[in-house]
Amino acid sequence: MSFYQSPKKISAYEAKFEAQKIAFAPVSFQVARCLSQFGLLLQIDKAGEQGIHLEQLTQLNDLSEYAIHVLLDMGLSMGLLWCKDEHYHLDKTGHFLLHDDMASKNLNFIHDVCYQGLFELEASLKNGKAEGLKHLGDWETIYPGLSQLPEQVKKSWFEFDHYYSDHAFESLLPLIFRSNPKHIVDVGGNTGKWAFACTSYNDSVNVTIMDLPGQLNVAMKNAKLHNVSDRVHPLETDLLDSNKPFYQQADLYWMSQFLDCFSKAQIVTILKRASAAMRLDSELCILETYWDRQPYEAGAYCVNATSLYFTAIANGNSRMYHSKDMLKMISEAGLYVDEDVDNIGLGHTLLRCKKKPN
Ligand SMILES: C[S@@+](CC[C@H](N)C(=O)[O-])C[C@H]1O[C@@H](n2cnc3c(N)ncnc32)[C@H](O)[C@@H]1O
Repeated sequence: MSFYQSPKKISAYEAKFEAQKIAFAPVSFQVARCLSQFGLLLQIDKAGEQGIHLEQLTQLNDLSEYAIHVLLDMGLSMGLLWCKDEHYHLDKTGHFLLHDDMASKNLNFIHDVCYQGLFELEASLKNGKAEGLKHLGDWETIYPGLSQLPEQVKKSWFEFDHYYSDHAFESLLPLIFRSNPKHIVDVGGNTGKWAFACTSYNDSVNVTIMDLPGQLNVAMKNAKLHNVSDRVHPLETDLLDSNKPFYQQADLYWMSQFLDCFSKAQIVTILKRASAAMRLDSELCILETYWDRQPYEAGAYCVNATSLYFTAIANGNSRMYHSKDMLKMISEAGLYVDEDVDNIGLGHTLLRCKKKPN
């Protein structure tokens, strides 16, 4: 990781411009979303080399000329568009905003799940509580409410979550099945995507999904659809309550994009419970995105930005961690890292852990 270790090489003029971009960031975010939502980016893209005039765009849309014009002007200032002889063209950033599916998943997640709640960031930081969550529902954390979120919010949450894990899962299967696990426990297994990836990759493996009831109901309905109800099993629990069950003596425990849902103290408790449940030859596989392990600065930016979703919306006390913090917590829980693999999927790291012999 080489970014952030020296001052940015930009002029004072550029830095001052960057500061103004931050000051107006919610404006540019909403403009980008509207240009995309109203189909204007697509229409400009389709116009090709000759570009498209404001009048033509007005004819194509139900919006007023005024509405389209303010969006286009700001689109120029944001570098999404360029304009010559009154004809608008898509610039490179506009191209990626329109065609890059990561940008669209991130944008929908920020708009639908986070935008309103982020207004409460200051209070969330002061109170150590996700004060923005009330915009979505009345729960202690977002997790018991996931299956009850308004449809559009739910869609954007799951698409964001699945986008990152889906990209990692395929390349992970051969790595995980190298140790020939017969029984995998997917801790925080959500709607069962990893369980079904495992059962279709290996025709004898059993998978137990440990999760909250809302997610488990969906997972078990999905298990039926995948015809694997006999090999995918539910274990309803709440990992924040040490009196609730934790599956014992599995061959392999799987925690994907899961530990980032908890504070450091909660992670150590969960890892200690995992360690106590493990045999000496069991494995615990932790899949996470750490900002310091990102191969590109864009990845570190997205990972660090995601932390603030946890602060203001999800639970008020968790984050995307630095890998050194996670390694410390793993050791504190009586585990050691047997294998450490970076650059899986979209910047994921796999830590294969074993129990320290007493
Ligand atoms: C970010 S999702 C990750 C889902 C999946 N493992 C993946 O890689 O896409 C976190 C999961 O942890 C579960 N979870 C969060 N808090 C929990 C708790 N206190 N007890 C049990 N599961 C919890 C959530 O319900 C959710 O399914």
